[in-house]
Amino acid sequence: MQASDKIQILDTKNEEALLGGGAKRIEQQHKKGKLHARERVELLLDPGSFEEIGKFVMHRCKDFGLDKEYYLGDGVITGYGTIDGRLVYVFAQDFTVFGGSLSETHAEKICKIMDLAMKNGAPVIGLNDSGGARIQEGVLSLAGYADIFYKNTLASGVIPQISAIMGPCAGGAVYSPAITDFIMMVENTSYMFVTGPNVVKTVTHEDVTSEELGGAMTHASKSGVTHFVSANEVECISDIRRLLSYMPQNCEEEAPALPYEGGNEKRVKLNSIIPANPNQPYDMREVISEIVDEGSFWEVHKYFAENIVVGFARLGGRSIGIVANQPAVLAGVLDIDSSTKGARFVRFCDSFNIPLLVLEDVPGFLPGTDQEWNAIITNGAKLLYAFCEATVPRVTVITRKAYGGAYDVMNSKHIGADMNYAWPSAEIAVMGASGAAEIIFKKEIAEAEDPAAKLQEKVQEYTEKFANPYRAAHRGYIDEVIYPEQTREKLLRAFKMLENKVATLPKKKHGNIPL
Ligand code: HXC
Repeated sequence: MQASDKIQILDTKNEEALLGGGAKRIEQQHKKGKLHARERVELLLDPGSFEEIGKFVMHRCKDFGLDKEYYLGDGVITGYGTIDGRLVYVFAQDFTVFGGSLSETHAEKICKIMDLAMKNGAPVIGLNDSGGARIQEGVLSLAGYADIFYKNTLASGVIPQISAIMGPCAGGAVYSPAITDFIMMVENTSYMFVTGPNVVKTVTHEDVTSEELGGAMTHASKSGVTHFVSANEVECISDIRRLLSYMPQNCEEEAPALPYEGGNEKRVKLNSIIPANPNQPYDMREVISEIVDEGSFWEVHKYFAENIVVGFARLGGRSIGIVANQPAVLAGVLDIDSSTKGARFVRFCDSFNIPLLVLEDVPGFLPGTDQEWNAIITNGAKLLYAFCEATVPRVTVITRKAYGGAYDVMNSKHIGADMNYAWPSAEIAVMGASGAAEIIFKKEIAEAEDPAAKLQEKVQEYTEKFANPYRAAHRGYIDEVIYPEQTREKLLRAFKMLENKVATLPKKKHGNIPL
């Protein structure tokens, strides 16, 4: 870095300095296919709404030559502004200042806006682009990280926290985003890992690139660390704005509702989505898009555990969270990843008063050593626990299969759902008819003159008894069997009826979700 690039610290009229280093620095970022931190903030917030806090802050380090190198703001731009007229707090790390590394003062600036956000009940958005702990500051920068982690944790469930990763994010630095509610990554320019490719090579002898180890698609599809992937930074920033539109400012408020005028709510296309053959897949997204307000569904964790679909939508203008089995992938079975994906989303929605809609078509939990040895028991229990604990309005529609433990888990009446609907195609049973017949009529089938015919007969008997929603409806476990075309209208009414729901959990310090 040239001496001329350094800020004249006493010259507070130096516009270049106040712009975080000016044109040269912006150009440095553009060359890497990235925006400068200040450009990101400008794009994120409503025009002219940004108020910067702490732009004259400088580091206090005197070691390793840092007593000769100061930059106003110390590598992070912090402040507040509005998104669609609603207050948000933001910090944006400036990679062009010490690689966006986190010093004691850099951390203090972030903590200051987090404190303000908590006191004033508004979301915090972090635009991360940093080489991690400022190496010259040693333990002071580690302490700074820990202060942020602590505040992230205290803020969890109080205000929404969103982390966009727009450059490197390595070492312990990944844990602040991991504690926040949503992570967004940008393809080709962002990566996250606890230990980078060099350390991986030394320790495990694996050859892996940064992109393969911790790039956006890796975390979107393999680890599930990131919830969203954007093709570029502009798209990422517009995604942050969209994401916020589904959520309230804090846990005491409701998400904003869009104006909605009722019309013809019948959706006849839904009548023909379920295939005649119960083993044939269909795309649950088609069901979702027919039910919710047009174009309002926005998928979260789209590329991870695709056998469950989760995301935000609007119904009659109001925000809802959707958790839906996806028969088009692994027959919609519940496994470890889909359970944790669903559980995390349910808990976010419940924290922030977003009603839950469950669309159910699930053949059960995935069998096998891989699942058992990696703790499908503990992980499946996360989804169960999350639903049991949720006090927001909760409605379920069973479109086809609701088998075994998965029937209980997927927002059944028994674990606190408010309204449970089933389509006539619903099958509510302990398991599929042929498996069930083979077990309970084993002896009879074996002793029969024609075992195959006997099996068929018993399968038929079991199917007639259980491959329908009426047994459950007779008991009141299903509130109503509805035609698919009625679903949207029924849901509009049900969620309206549940608008003022009050439910409380027993007094406790906190529960002990099976982590
Ligand atoms: C101080 C840093 C820095 C850091 C980068 N810089 N990282 N300064 N502390 N952590 C400086 C560089 O010296 C350089 O300064 C400028 O930022 C740009 O860095 P480059 O290396 O030129 O950029 P690039 O080639 O794009 O590489 C980016 C990078 C690399 C991959 C992030 O800089 C890097 O590996 N940095 C170190 C990463 C790291 O090990 N951090 C500590 C992680 S452990 P000049 O003056 O030359 O422009 C950690 C613990 C947290 O974070 C624990 C919390 C619990």
